[in-house]
Amino acid sequence: MNALKHIVTIFLLCSMVCTGVSAQNARINYDESKVPQFELPALLTSDSGDSIRTVEEWETVRRPEILDMLQEKMFGRTPADRIAVKWDVISENGEALGGKATFRQVRFTFGEGENTLEAILLLILPNEAKGKVPVIISYNFNGNHSTCMESDILYPTKFDLIAAEDSPLRERGNQISRWPLEMIVDRGYAVATMCYHDIFPDRADLRDRSAAALFPDFLNRMRDHDEWGAIGVWAWGYSRIADYLETVGAIDSNRMAVMGHSRQGKAAVWAGAQDERFKVVISNDSGCGGAALSKRVFGENISCITNTFPHWFCPGLCAYAGNEQAMPFDQHMLLATIAPRHLYVASAVEDRWADPKGEYLGAYHAGEVYRLYGLKPLESMEMPPVHTPIHNDVAYHIRAGRHDVTEYDWKCYLDYCDIYMK
Ligand code: GCU
Repeated sequence: MNALKHIVTIFLLCSMVCTGVSAQNARINYDESKVPQFELPALLTSDSGDSIRTVEEWETVRRPEILDMLQEKMFGRTPADRIAVKWDVISENGEALGGKATFRQVRFTFGEGENTLEAILLLILPNEAKGKVPVIISYNFNGNHSTCMESDILYPTKFDLIAAEDSPLRERGNQISRWPLEMIVDRGYAVATMCYHDIFPDRADLRDRSAAALFPDFLNRMRDHDEWGAIGVWAWGYSRIADYLETVGAIDSNRMAVMGHSRQGKAAVWAGAQDERFKVVISNDSGCGGAALSKRVFGENISCITNTFPHWFCPGLCAYAGNEQAMPFDQHMLLATIAPRHLYVASAVEDRWADPKGEYLGAYHAGEVYRLYGLKPLESMEMPPVHTPIHNDVAYHIRAGRHDVTEYDWKCYLDYCDIYMK
């Protein structure tokens, strides 16, 4: 009898959870005709109502206001404290990729004493280079070993928290299609990649194992409305990789690009917004909280993202769940803070969850600030056809297929970097 009661209870609980999920899915809008009328917050009017007419006014008044608002209401505040970082080269293989590249693994040790965190960077340098090379910095999802077949590449430092003993994530090269390393190296670029779990293992309950836990007052700040979330911490990590690359003789640190896919694309644009060393900032399918305008409420919305990933943003973002029209900012403002540096937003046709049109419009509306600098942004509100990249100072492409990073995407990014970073 008791067993029966348990089965009934489990069934009822399951059906409640499922109804919750399907009720939430039912609220996801994929119908363009149901996109609400919305007004985007003005980029070029200051909080005190003044028009911003010059680059100087933008840089001294409006840009800092926007960055402050994004810290307070979306990503949380990046701590001003600096923590100790040590770099140790743990291996160097000059014969990687059939002799085309040198693969260097570098251990980053953040913090000192009891409270430290380790992360491993894989730096891939082209062997054929004449002089210093430009570099593309990009996290990977499944570990450095997932990007290639080289046998000595180490697992992420906190892999046991994320991947079971028999997990397919442990297979070498399990995301190799996202990393056409030979092509990138042949075109003269270095790649610096690290598993994002090394910086913040991507689970809400693992915050105390992330780099956030190294900062003073971590526990007291945890529930503050503007406490930084994982995306902020990953963005901080991108900057720490840049610090190391500035010390590498083979790298031209004036030509560093940051590229991220999806959640790592959200982190890439936030890193690009805050750290001016990134000369090209690339958002691959970054969607909600990245390049896509939230006020369109198309595909993933603030309610879904804050429910499913409560650790990604600051707690304050929840105020806009189901209430996007009350947001005093939108993603065009985030993208505009990257100007006058180069911005590339890319989408995939089947990736409706990330709202390709919203991503395009985010980049399009950021153009107002690029114009202030005399640069050429995206010129039309109409999206370009599939596989027709626009490589203006603000760039965009949409390709066929699903949410992913493909060789086509990389080829477009390299073409763009050849124009603006070579
Ligand atoms: C989920 C999430 C997205 C995110 C994506 C990813 O789909 O809802 O916001 O971009 O994962 O990182 O792949």
